[in-house]
Amino acid sequence: MNLPIQPNDIQAVIEADRAHVWHHLIQHKPFETIDPRIMVEGRGMRVLDATGKEHLDGVSGGVWTVNVGYGRESIANAVRDQLVKMNYFANSAGSIPGALFAKQLIDKMPGMSRVYYSNSGSEANEKAFKMIRQISHRHHGGRKYKILYRDRDYHGTTLAALSAGGQPQRVEQYGPLVPGFVMVPHCLEYRSQYPDAESYGEAAANAIEEVILREGPDTVGGLCLEPITAGGGVITPPAGYWERVQEICAKYKILLHIDEVVCGVGRTGAWFGYQHYGVKPDFVTMAKGVASGYAAISCTVTTEEVFDQFKDDPSDPMSYFRDISTFGGCAAGPAAALENMRIIEDENLIENTKAMGERMMNNLRALQEKHAVIGDVRGKGLFLGAELVSDRGSREPMDEKRVHAVVADCMAQGVIIGATNRSLPGFNNTLCFSPALIATAQDIDQITDSVDQALKKVFG
Ligand SMILES: Cc1ncc(COP(=O)(O)O)c(C=O)c1O
Repeated sequence: MNLPIQPNDIQAVIEADRAHVWHHLIQHKPFETIDPRIMVEGRGMRVLDATGKEHLDGVSGGVWTVNVGYGRESIANAVRDQLVKMNYFANSAGSIPGALFAKQLIDKMPGMSRVYYSNSGSEANEKAFKMIRQISHRHHGGRKYKILYRDRDYHGTTLAALSAGGQPQRVEQYGPLVPGFVMVPHCLEYRSQYPDAESYGEAAANAIEEVILREGPDTVGGLCLEPITAGGGVITPPAGYWERVQEICAKYKILLHIDEVVCGVGRTGAWFGYQHYGVKPDFVTMAKGVASGYAAISCTVTTEEVFDQFKDDPSDPMSYFRDISTFGGCAAGPAAALENMRIIEDENLIENTKAMGERMMNNLRALQEKHAVIGDVRGKGLFLGAELVSDRGSREPMDEKRVHAVVADCMAQGVIIGATNRSLPGFNNTLCFSPALIATAQDIDQITDSVDQALKKVFG
């Protein structure tokens, strides 16, 4: 009989992982000769891997998630207390933390009103897509079924979310996709698509209107956008963009769905990214930072106006939102989210994000002056990117392999940063930074110092 492996028998853990775990987003062939990386412990901004090496995490768990940092006992305790009291009941019934978190969340989102729980960003987005489709069926004779998404944006991994994916390398080989999703151009000013425009923001928004007119406004039900594009290259919207986008949505009665899966809950130095731009959304989706990875939770938040359209005809058994997410009923999610929100408020983490974000932006700009390879620096709060180019004049994107050499060198120095990867053919050239909202000035400087060293090493 095989005895169970003890968690502290690290070599056995590595072998079990190598033999049986299929990791996300990675080619496994190299693991035949090298060990897969296993993260063992986290404290604050730092993680220890199975070799005992400590890393400063500049990307909050790899994918913009652990916003309040590692090792938060108060969240673990809140989750534990909730689990022993009431761990689960399907969300056709409510829960105490579910109600309390919804109330606190809505307090931070003037104009919004209802929270639908599920457990991943992809799923939260799918709920909004389904709501838009059902509104089209019930109120527009099924005609307003098309959902617009933007080049370079990402909304998730499930097939409908992928169908709304503006990153071709994420989508390739997974077709056929779900019909009714239509792409609009991105708004990255650095990759100037509208060189003659008086207002780049307005021109980029007008390009959305052109698509709407081409498709037929009475066929378009929703527009799904990230407030700041994340994995597509950390793209902050140009001035004038959101004002015009909103005008266009109002003009053609198109519901505006803001994907806050990355930007939400403090990351950009406001509770939500859209709040920087005065946007009034119909849907807001969020996931990663909602409970900082201490539990799986996502939310699809709507206005009362949207919600009302699903209870206007109680005599029709098909008129309400007939959707369920089994684990949307896990009470651990909102219990963790409540404590996560308390921490952000009590520790003034939004203020810290603004201050540390400014510091990091200044550090990156100083690096840009020093290293010709940095073509552009963008971002807001602790959500920043540096686009690498092989030629500043022509803005020729840097080869992906060399971008990843910079990431690898930082890793060797004990600092984890990210880069756009396997998303945009020829344009996987942006270094990504998203340290936890608890980052100190020393942490920020250590991250940018390591980038400085890595750029020197890789590009001389
Ligand atoms: C903007 C955005 N939306 C949605 C998702 C999908 O979230 P999940 O991986 O939780 O399904 C992601 C994931 O990275 C994302 O970046």
